[in-house]
Amino acid sequence: MTSILSRANDLAQPTEFRRISDGFAFGGDYSPEQWPEEVWVEDIALMRRAGVNSVNLGVFSWGLIEVSDGEFDFGWLDRIMDLLHEGGVGVNLATPTAAPPIWLHQAHPEILPVDDRGIRMAQGGRLGWSPSSATFRTYAMRIVEKLAERYGEHPALRLWHVSNELGNENNHCFSDETGQAWQRWLMKKFGTIDALNEAWGTAFWGHHYTSFGQLQPPRHSGTGHNPGLLLDFERFSSDALLDHYRAEREVLRRITPDIPITTNFMVQNHPGVADYRAWAAEVDLVANDHYTIGIDPERHGELAFSADRVRGMAGGDPWLLIEHSTSAVNWQPRNRAKSVGELARNSLAHIARGAEGALFFQWRQSTAGSEQFHSAVVPHGGADTKVYREAEALGATLTAIAEVAGSRVEKASVAMFFDYDAAMALRAGRKPTVDVTAIDAALDFHRALTARGIAVDVLHPSDDLDGYAAIVVPTLLLMTAKDAARLAAWVTAGGHAVVTYFSGIVNEHNRVHGTYPGVLRELLGIRVEEFFPLLGGERVALDNGWAGSIWTELAHLDGAEPVASYASGELFGVPAVTRNAVGSGSASYVATHLDPESIGSLVDDLIDRAQLAPVAGADRGLEVTRRVGPDGTWLFAINHSSSPLHLEASGLDLVTGTRFEPGAVVPAGAVVVLREDARS
Ligand code: GLA
Ligand code: GLA
Repeated sequence: MTSILSRANDLAQPTEFRRISDGFAFGGDYSPEQWPEEVWVEDIALMRRAGVNSVNLGVFSWGLIEVSDGEFDFGWLDRIMDLLHEGGVGVNLATPTAAPPIWLHQAHPEILPVDDRGIRMAQGGRLGWSPSSATFRTYAMRIVEKLAERYGEHPALRLWHVSNELGNENNHCFSDETGQAWQRWLMKKFGTIDALNEAWGTAFWGHHYTSFGQLQPPRHSGTGHNPGLLLDFERFSSDALLDHYRAEREVLRRITPDIPITTNFMVQNHPGVADYRAWAAEVDLVANDHYTIGIDPERHGELAFSADRVRGMAGGDPWLLIEHSTSAVNWQPRNRAKSVGELARNSLAHIARGAEGALFFQWRQSTAGSEQFHSAVVPHGGADTKVYREAEALGATLTAIAEVAGSRVEKASVAMFFDYDAAMALRAGRKPTVDVTAIDAALDFHRALTARGIAVDVLHPSDDLDGYAAIVVPTLLLMTAKDAARLAAWVTAGGHAVVTYFSGIVNEHNRVHGTYPGVLRELLGIRVEEFFPLLGGERVALDNGWAGSIWTELAHLDGAEPVASYASGELFGVPAVTRNAVGSGSASYVATHLDPESIGSLVDDLIDRAQLAPVAGADRGLEVTRRVGPDGTWLFAINHSSSPLHLEASGLDLVTGTRFEPGAVVPAGAVVVLREDARS
């Protein structure tokens, strides 16, 4: 984070985040270009009624602003900017580079990305450009400059929204032009070709390079590419997109030095399409798009994990939920509509975990285009609908809890490691099974902790570990010797670590460290000689009643004590869960993918051992988080279940305006936001 947000941990120091709105930001993507101007008048009236104060404007409007090469028509955008300002709605103005105009694709088809078989993408989608295309860069910089010059002083302008979901459709390109950029990137990283050969281990299949000019992007080759090359190509691809962001940012910063700049990340149920932790250092405020996955019955758990990941990237600072949905999306095979109350629970769960607003994609549901069946604040059916009424009610709630804005989420006592590099290493090259992901174990542990009221901070392995009582290291395939040594020092000093299977195995070049579990071997006090991945659906019983699936390992104790051993299958009697006493702390290892109940009892044990306290006493399953500001603390309690759940806390519920006494219930499906009575 650079300019406007303070990185200080000092809670008394308010951030300047509120620059984009008073209180919480509320609104969404607004595409007035899809509607006749009469509809704009109704839009602004409905925005005022719902309490909207913030819209993302112009996201895909390039072709309507630059109508042909160098010919600009800003009339409609001038008019809507003015109308929004008169209506009291702030604008996060998007640079429209996510959707190049048709005339640009016609004139320069070579800007389109090329896939790994050499097929160039066609016009008609979005993000139809290669991040390494010099021609695209030139055109993009011109429209960005025009926009900044025209609207830089406009009173509605609050934030620059650079492009849209950079990398969503264009995170990899395999063109010759990209190949040249890739060679330059490698030259800068390795310096000499020998260093590259050594790092990647190119003796394998005799793939020895004698110059950087011989390197190509990992195009379809019939067999798998070198895992080190693949991982570096992921890093290069993330950097190429980031470089595009930076180029736009520099234009905007030169013309409008006082307007904050961001771009929307996509942190949700996958590792992400770019290394957002690195990107977070380049934006003035971290902004995220999040969509729940309808088939996941516990999608609120995934939402909580994603929101904690975003807060971690922001270094604990507030962040902006710049897109989520009011109801169904249109891009899942089956697009589930949200249940009554789910809209508010989702939005407020993000806010409970540090979001400074709730913006939706989108304001008014399109009648045309590929997203015509995606939900919006104003559906096809208009304002007399469940969705608009719930959005309007959310607007009122955000006004009622406005005093919370600017506060920070209380620091957790448990940390969990998540690293994009490690997640990408797991995907880069063939691994012992396709069933292990970088998300699953992390999410299951996060869910178990959350269900017990235990807050979690998601950290990078190189972050400061001070002040945490427990750290979960879920399937972190790539780990450097340095980060492993820091973890070991933290355990020795009294920390309690839980590491899950297939961690610590490869180095930063995706090469195997040696005897498993590599750099974690000594800390864990075990030696693993062979992996025994399970076949689809296969389960294994443990002798303490727990059960696992997906993965097992032939492990030997080398200082650690057994906690549980396999009671079935090929590895009968082999330790499956171990614990090593190290200094005044402990390092536990879980060699299989435990089922949720088993993780729950392991977490219960961790709570006892590390003496972890819940955010507040509550019935199992109530989602509780606390935000802390200079003048008070606020407790969020979200009931995702269909039964009332008790909460041990007292204060004024800002949502209903009534007192909440200890032991009272949060009704099924409801959210309370307590201004807490002073805590002793
Ligand atoms: C084939 C090839 C070997 C090796 C093995 C792996 O047999 O000839 O080089 O790739 O497959 O199973
Ligand atoms: C993304 C994009 C939006 C829209 C939504 C649909 O978040 O940024 O433009 O396509 O998905 O869910």
